[in-house]
Amino acid sequence: SKYDVALLVGSFRTGSLNQRLADSIVRLAPDSLNFRQLRMDDLPFYNQDIEPARTEAVNRLASDLAKADAVLIVTPEYNRSIPAVLKNAIDWVSKPGDKNVWRDMPVAMAGTSPGAIGTAVGQQHLRQVLSVLRAHVLPGECYISFKTPDLISETGVVSEASTEAFLKEFIDRFAGYVAKMRG
Ligand code: FNR
Repeated sequence: SKYDVALLVGSFRTGSLNQRLADSIVRLAPDSLNFRQLRMDDLPFYNQDIEPARTEAVNRLASDLAKADAVLIVTPEYNRSIPAVLKNAIDWVSKPGDKNVWRDMPVAMAGTSPGAIGTAVGQQHLRQVLSVLRAHVLPGECYISFKTPDLISETGVVSEASTEAFLKEFIDRFAGYVAKMRG
């Protein structure tokens, strides 16, 4: 594999639909992308008082992201925005400003929800945050309405051909984007 892609999933719960979506995208990805899912569940809440003495979990996340060639974020939408756990992680590794890991980072986002517009609005917020941080966000959108309970299995197998083709096109397009950015 040529490019190291850090994977962040915005839901930690057992049986998360977004974890299933992430697993399906990893399955469908071309060989040029090598994924590594990073933890966000062990981060403290951001507090500038503890900036000078960052916890091990914060340092690990920052260094893992800094080493990555690209980042894939797969996240639910919470109240038409992104989950606090994801925003907290983004904030931690955006500071200090000269070590903002998002700057010039190729980033793609995807998400799913049982609702009709599965995470589309939350993704608009995420796109705005990442663009402030000067990430290179993949143009286009990838959100899935999880309309049947078996749309994607617990092992990331997609049961519907059109959904599988859509996800394959998305991750192939991201692979091309990463190759263009990283050479
Ligand atoms: C939700 N859910 C939700 N769904 C949606 O389409 N738009 C929304 O704004 C919200 N808001 C929201 C807020 C909170 C606090 C919760 C807990 C849930 C429903 C959500 O899409 C659903 O619970 C998904 O299954 C969450 O993703 P995971 O955990 O399955 O990956």
